[in-house]
Formats: sequence, structure tokens, C-alpha cells
Amino acid sequence: MNNSTQTYKLLWTSEQQTLDFAQKLSSEPGILDATIALSGDLGTGKTSFTRYLLRALGVKGTIKSPTYAIVESYETLYKDHELLIWHMDFYRFNDPHEWEDAGFRDIFACRGLKIYEWPERVAALVPKPDIEIHLELNALDQREVMLKLNTHKVSDCWTA
Ligand SMILES: Nc1ncnc2c1ncn2[C@@H]1O[C@H](COP(=O)(O)OP(=O)(O)OP(=O)(O)O)[C@@H](O)[C@H]1O
Ligand SMILES: [Mg+2]
Repeated sequence: MNNSTQTYKLLWTSEQQTLDFAQKLSSEPGILDATIALSGDLGTGKTSFTRYLLRALGVKGTIKSPTYAIVESYETLYKDHELLIWHMDFYRFNDPHEWEDAGFRDIFACRGLKIYEWPERVAALVPKPDIEIHLELNALDQREVMLKLNTHKVSDCWTA
């Protein structure tokens, strides 16, 4: 398989556009077994985006930010398949080895959707994610989005 990275620059001028992107991503069958790394400063919208994605995948009930618990897990039905989802936030990790010591390697080895915020805290140990999304706020309070597809789990046709 060719693993060359495809990079796209997108712009989310409103939460509606974040939602539209999340919905489009949720329709990709490869999402059933993928890792997504979400980077960007505090408050850029990593958790908000994840909420939209999880809702689009059928998750009901509260979707808490994993800032304190570090990981929140969900089970949902996706196109008649059971889908396991882990949403993680490594902000409070000071040393990547905490990722290893806390057993996260086991989660990353599971079939399901693994989404994690603050990848830079654990980058030295974690396998390269299938999808990287980097968020930046510009002067107009819009989200400038860098989307990197490192594998072919999702299709490579994205436009702003
Ligand atoms: N287009 C947008 N996409 C995502 N969030 C947006 C957008 N516009 C405004 N927001 C708001 O920005 C805030 C983003 O907060 P959020 O908790 O998602 O950030 P975060 O990147 O997860 O931060 P942290 O690093 O602290 O976990 C929310 O209040 C959300 O409503
Ligand atoms: Mg967050």
C-alpha cells in the first residue's frame, strides 16, 4: 500500500462548517478502524470537532471532554456494524512514557476509532496516525485547518 501523505488546507468559518466536515468524515467506511490526531492550541476546537464527529457516527448522550479522565470510550452502531470509539486527551502528560505505562498501546491496537488530542505530548511513542488535523485560529476567529491523510483509510478528495 502506498502511504504517501496527502495534505489539505481547509477553512472553517463557522461551527456549521466544522459540522459539515465531521459529517463527511463520518461517511468514510475506513473510520471504523482509524486513528485521528487532533492538534492545536487550547480552545481551537478539537473537542468540539470530536463531538460533531461522534454525533454523526451515532453516539447518543453526553460527550464529555476527556481533559480530566484522559480517555472516554463509546460504543455505537455504524452502518449496522458495532463501532468502538476512544476519545483521549494527553494534555496532562509530561512524559510520553505515561502513555505506555497507562496501557494506551492496548487501546491503539484495538479495532475501532481512536481520536486523541495533544499528540505532541506522546508523539515519540505513538504509531503514526492515519489522519492528522491541526487547528489554528486566525485573526478573523476562523479555524484554519491542516488535514493530513497519512494512509488510504479515508478517501483523498477534500476541498475547503
Ligand atoms: N468552527 C468552530 N469549530 C469548533 N469550535 C468552534 C468553532 N467556532 C467556535 N468554536 C468554539 O470554540 C470552542 C472550542 O473549544 P474546545 O473545547 O473544542 O477546544 P479544544 O481545542 O478541545 O481545547 P483543549 O485543548 O482545551 O482541549 C468551543 O467553545 C466552540 O463552541
Ligand atoms: Mg479539548
